[in-house]
Amino acid sequence: MTKPMSKTSAGAAVIVRDLVKRFGTLKVLDGVSLEIQRGQMVAIVGRSGSGKSTLLRCMNALETIDEGTLQVCGHDVSSRDRLVVRELRRDVGIVFQSYNLFPHLTVERNITLALTSVKKLSKHEAQKVAHKVLALVGLSEKAQSYPEQLSGGQSQRVAIARSLAMAPQLMLFDEVTSALDPELTGEVLKVMEDLKRQGMTMVLVTHEMAFARRVADIVVFMHKGQVWEMGPPEELFTRPRTAEFAQFISSGL
Ligand SMILES: Nc1ncnc2c1ncn2[C@@H]1O[C@H](COP(=O)(O)OP(=O)(O)O)[C@@H](O)[C@H]1O
Ligand SMILES: [Mg+2]
Repeated sequence: MTKPMSKTSAGAAVIVRDLVKRFGTLKVLDGVSLEIQRGQMVAIVGRSGSGKSTLLRCMNALETIDEGTLQVCGHDVSSRDRLVVRELRRDVGIVFQSYNLFPHLTVERNITLALTSVKKLSKHEAQKVAHKVLALVGLSEKAQSYPEQLSGGQSQRVAIARSLAMAPQLMLFDEVTSALDPELTGEVLKVMEDLKRQGMTMVLVTHEMAFARRVADIVVFMHKGQVWEMGPPEELFTRPRTAEFAQFISSGL
């Protein structure tokens, strides 16, 4: 966890080329190409239904892809090889809007569960990792609490900590603050900003435009299943190249 980038040095963490994804006859991703460098934070924005979640889910092999190629943390996701998928999931963490914590387990146990069962760490080692990641998200004092005793923002930070405990090289966040009140949103955004400072590679789908503009290295605007605009936020937000993006940012979404 201390060195999320240690496994591989500089270079691309994600390479997407001409990616096509269909649900039945609906083309949800229509030729998406993009590259994400290690250590970068990429924010994906766009209207509901533009394919943001699907793109993120493809990166973790939660969706199969129909055309094109996709490389994530050195794994060829398009191969659909079971072993590749297993290795991929070990390197990639994903956090959703819903935290999916086990209500009957303490915060600490929610985090150590996969460490002891999947990673085969001893209980003591797993607890050490849990305390480390809880400190990272500022919740050391909540280790023995149960999910119902936490606020939404704290729950989401535990969900992030649980994912970090697996020492991923890449973190995917799908609208992790969308269910939170503004004041709780801030504490979760701060955790993501801290992670970026520590060198974690991150892709986040978000409606927090001010955050994306201030913190992300690259903003990707998706429209109709395509990368409609992409670039450094200052450039993109000051001079939108397309009417669609200009309209999107002026609508305050
Ligand atoms: N499992 C699915 N089966 C059928 N259609 C889906 C499925 N998942 C998403 N879609 C459709 O794909 C399109 C893109 O969805 P999504 O990637 O969730 O968009 P976004 O995250 O940008 O709101 C939408 O039209 C949505 O209804
Ligand atoms: Mg979505």
